Amino acid sequence: MKNILFVCLGNICRSPAAEGVMTSLVQQAGLEGEIFCDSAGTIGYHAGEPADGRMRRSARQRGYDLTSISRKVNPAIDFEKFDLIVAMDDDNLRDLRAMDHDNTYAAKMHKMTDFCRTSNATYVPDPYYGGTQGFENVLDILEDACGGLLEKIRDERKS
Ligand code: 4NP
Repeated sequence: MKNILFVCLGNICRSPAAEGVMTSLVQQAGLEGEIFCDSAGTIGYHAGEPADGRMRRSARQRGYDLTSISRKVNPAIDFEKFDLIVAMDDDNLRDLRAMDHDNTYAAKMHKMTDFCRTSNATYVPDPYYGGTQGFENVLDILEDACGGLLEKIRDERKS
């Protein structure tokens, strides 16, 4: 089992969408038994809340059902449990690395856009304070990056 944790700031916009897009790709590939996806935030401000309604609506229009409930990253459990910890932007990655005091888990930590195959984006922009286009842009980047991530995992399984 490959366990993947997607991480953003609030865990109500970008990382729940990443979890939803990746879970959908995993299901389409018939790999539900092999790849598990979850998401969390570097802050707990929205803990217990479902994903932002604007994010859910944009995702729904593309066929993704975002069901996750916001929670804060728990380094004591998550850094051990997850094989890949995928941050949405450089701030998220920096905050995750700061929680990893001895750099024990540094090799597990990545940035979502590092898996992009066509997009030139270098981070997934926070859509929280913007309009609808920001949520669509998040999904465009995530669809590209999740496709690349799945391909990478499949390539590694072969070798
Ligand atoms: P997310 O978006 O990190 O993609 O979930 C945000 C959600 C909430 C806040 C900021 C970003 N906030 O400041 O409450």
